[in-house]
Amino acid sequence: MNVLVIGGGAREHAICDAVSRSENVTLFSVMKNLNPGIERMAVDYLLEKETNVDRVVEYAKKNNIDLLLVGPEAPLELGLVDELTKNNINTCAPTRDAARIETDKEWMRNLVRKYKIPGQLTYGTFSDVEKAKRFIEELNAEVAIKPIGLTGGKGVRVAGDHFNGTDEAISYVKEVIENKIGGVAKVLIEEKAIGEEFTLQALSDGSTIVTFPAVQDHKRLLPGDRGPNTGGMGSYSCADGLLPFLSQDDYNEGASILKKIVDALNKEGCRYVGPIYGQFMLTSKGIKIIEINARFGDPENMNVLPLLQTDFIELCTSMLDETLSNKKIQVQERSTVCKYVVPEGYGFKSMVGEKIHVGEEFVKDTGAELFFASVNKKNNDIFTTSSRSLAVVGIADEIGDAEKICEEALSHVKGDHIFIRHDIGTEDLIQKRVNHMIELRGSR
Ligand code: AMP
Ligand code: GLY
Repeated sequence: MNVLVIGGGAREHAICDAVSRSENVTLFSVMKNLNPGIERMAVDYLLEKETNVDRVVEYAKKNNIDLLLVGPEAPLELGLVDELTKNNINTCAPTRDAARIETDKEWMRNLVRKYKIPGQLTYGTFSDVEKAKRFIEELNAEVAIKPIGLTGGKGVRVAGDHFNGTDEAISYVKEVIENKIGGVAKVLIEEKAIGEEFTLQALSDGSTIVTFPAVQDHKRLLPGDRGPNTGGMGSYSCADGLLPFLSQDDYNEGASILKKIVDALNKEGCRYVGPIYGQFMLTSKGIKIIEINARFGDPENMNVLPLLQTDFIELCTSMLDETLSNKKIQVQERSTVCKYVVPEGYGFKSMVGEKIHVGEEFVKDTGAELFFASVNKKNNDIFTTSSRSLAVVGIADEIGDAEKICEEALSHVKGDHIFIRHDIGTEDLIQKRVNHMIELRGSR
């Protein structure tokens, strides 16, 4: 079977890795940068922007692709899946309309309200700064401010984290509207949800979903959850599939919300096929929806795909045949800690073109997994770009051991200008999250 994976990041490296564990697969790739990990696995690749729909379709046709998987969201918004479908190429990813669940944050909130799906937040969208101001004042400036469209996970600002008070909120509202950040002169303002975040990834065949273990991502750049939001600096998951602050009931509630969203999409005439991602906040008032993504999470898929025991290609085929109800995702019951290596200055002004030395054999000896992200390779040397460079995933029964393995592996990744959030997955940080939830629940 010829399988084409779109995207050249660490998430896509992990997808390629999962695909390659199936038998009789010939792997192809379209990527913007030459990902050294994918390069090794693929029989052929095209170096091209993932958003160049015409080139991707042409490449898929030329290589008689039987199954196509899409890592990032941007090509979905451009209708890549619709074009592939017209050309009879099976794709495990949502159409442009179904992907609006991620690409249009206003549409997502409206859908969730229309179908009375649990986990809603008070929200409003505004093109008028004065009206936005009144709404912010009504919510005592305890808000999250979001561009409507895609911003690579970097456009959201939250009260207390990135700004304080109405004046600072308004200044960002103006910036979003005036500069059309996220594509339109409009802003989404939501009630700030207070609690602990978790990610639930699932596969959908349009009517059934099957879920992966829960994961906690770390969006903030700096240790102690400070600094700007990034694409994600690292993440962890636990052997029982839950998180230290997340009960089975909470998990089930998240899964039920995802299922209701897939059902709502069906009713709207956009059957959802592919991976779906729920970002939730566990609050003292239950679970709230923060965002829904039309793809796997990055880094979160690196916590779950390496543990997958069910054949990944079989799962993909079931997504296409609408036979997921007969399937269950089997994963190893192990804990994982994933940490990204990013260029120094990432989040502000990345140091580009800096050499990173990766002792791959030594990393392998620790038992950790290594996934390359956005790097350039020249003469067997690896250099930073402006984006995240590579991710290392420690895997063990206990989370503490997974974190130690991850750090041991990271000691074999060297560079004068790299940055890592070493606090991810440490006992101290996890305990802080547990205490936070106990505190919030106590004050209910
Ligand atoms: P998003 O790109 O929508 O995932 O937002 C980035 C991050 O901002 C999320 O992971 C949350 O940490 C935070 N965030 C977004 N919306 C809210 C909200 N309504 N309340 C609190 N935090 C939020
Ligand atoms: N880790 C956040 C995302 O994939 O959107």
